[in-house]
Amino acid sequence: MINLSKRLRALADFCDENKIIADIGTDHGFVPNFLYEEKNTKKIYAVDISKSCLQKSMDFTKLRANERGIDHIISDGLKNVPPADNIIIAGMGGVLITRILERNMEKARAAEKLILQPMQQADFLRKFLYDKAFEILDEKIIYEDKKYFQIIVGRFTGKITTYEKEDLIVPKILRERKDKSLIDFLEDKIGQNNFILHHMDKKSLRAKERIEDLERENKKFKELVYEISK
Ligand SMILES: C[S@@+](CC[C@H](N)C(=O)[O-])C[C@H]1O[C@@H](n2cnc3c(N)ncnc32)[C@H](O)[C@@H]1O
Repeated sequence: MINLSKRLRALADFCDENKIIADIGTDHGFVPNFLYEEKNTKKIYAVDISKSCLQKSMDFTKLRANERGIDHIISDGLKNVPPADNIIIAGMGGVLITRILERNMEKARAAEKLILQPMQQADFLRKFLYDKAFEILDEKIIYEDKKYFQIIVGRFTGKITTYEKEDLIVPKILRERKDKSLIDFLEDKIGQNNFILHHMDKKSLRAKERIEDLERENKKFKELVYEISK
């Protein structure tokens, strides 16, 4: 069995059986090959914008003798990709993931599941999903290599969800579930805010507003940690 990292394994675990799966920005191709070997899949598309990155996936697929089940496609996002039931877009910034979805909204809307893993700006991606009438079905926080990775699973419903500002930063679904992984995640965020508060130029014009924002955010995060720990 291919030994995936915790992050990649979580992405694969979110994929459904007997579906067409597209992995956008596949690079090494580990997830498509794992899926082909471990799950029943109808078809797998391993997709990348870069020829050299896609070549890595092609080489790995050949090494594993999985060519029969995986189609390799050069594409900027979803542009050249046939419709897929589950679309994985992982290991890129939240803004880039948003752009990829936005440029081919019909394909994004038609998917049963979008499995998204932004490296930064997860809040931007959540805002896009909520504003464009996608529902957030599930979320997961993975701690690996001294970093927190957020996985957001969504699907288009056509119904706009209302949200609070904090829902963009702290996954609502995990809060409701009192998911213990949130405790360390929030404590890390409190630490990052404290670092900024400690090192920022407090005399600058907008400092007062920024300090108030960070302190308000930390107060909220501490309340949430208390709530979840109970
Ligand atoms: C850091 S790698 C992530 C690889 C893998 N998805 C993961 O999570 O480990 C990002 C990959 O996305 C590809 N990429 C960047 N922009 C893209 C786009 N618009 N369409 C398709 N692939 C893209 C890059 O070429 C690169 O192979």
